[in-house]
Amino acid sequence: MYEERFDKRGFDELRPMEAETGIIPNAKGSARFRIGNTEAIAAVYGPEEVKPKHFEKVDKGIIMCKYDMLPFSVPDRAKPGMDRRDMEISDVITNALNRAVILEEFPRSMITVRVYVTQADAGTRCASLTAASMACADAGLPMRDLVAAVAAGKIGDSICLDLTKEEEDFHEGGATDVPIGFLPSKNEIVLLQLDGKVTKEELSRIVEMGKLGAMKIYELEKSVLQGRFSNESKS
Ligand code: CDP
Repeated sequence: MYEERFDKRGFDELRPMEAETGIIPNAKGSARFRIGNTEAIAAVYGPEEVKPKHFEKVDKGIIMCKYDMLPFSVPDRAKPGMDRRDMEISDVITNALNRAVILEEFPRSMITVRVYVTQADAGTRCASLTAASMACADAGLPMRDLVAAVAAGKIGDSICLDLTKEEEDFHEGGATDVPIGFLPSKNEIVLLQLDGKVTKEELSRIVEMGKLGAMKIYELEKSVLQGRFSNESKS
């Protein structure tokens, strides 16, 4: 039984969030997104010539994305360099961004996305995807929509939004984690993974809760980007 959350949040409540763009002057676009004690920064470069050349596509651009958890982001220093988990997360973020960025506008070109987790308290792939999506928008890339991503899941018998690491490690009854990436204006899911066991009915409740949480993240993303572009037009 999990009747009250460790941090006293409502079961459908997100952790406090912060977002900003334009944090890395040397990148074409950049963003920082924090949710609770999980934070990611993203930098976007390009469109530029594809390297290595054999990855080039004649009819559209490609996204090369790398996710990295910085050594000091977790209590036990994370090993530097890409492991299997980093590769998997880089792939799922790339797949989601492929649906968001209009790549047909950049044939034979490459967009590079680098995401670094500075603090990890669960939900890093979702925070990274949200930051990467904002960085793409900050770079002025044409997009079908912004991606808003958050994990939802089940702890004991309770369906919950935006799990912390302490909740993911919940033993009595176990915890299930479902990271969700959402294009709100298209009502399209671009990232969906499942770590644990749930019934079909529970999964639909989890996905619904995740989509509602993602809508709140989307509102924050939009307000930060609107502020950023309106400041640019004033200067
Ligand atoms: O971060 P996310 O929930 O997307 O992915 P995960 O592989 O389910 O990892 C869950 C959490 O475990 C991370 O957010 C970190 O808090 C923690 N973790 C860690 O402490 N050390 C690692 N090498 C990997 C993950």
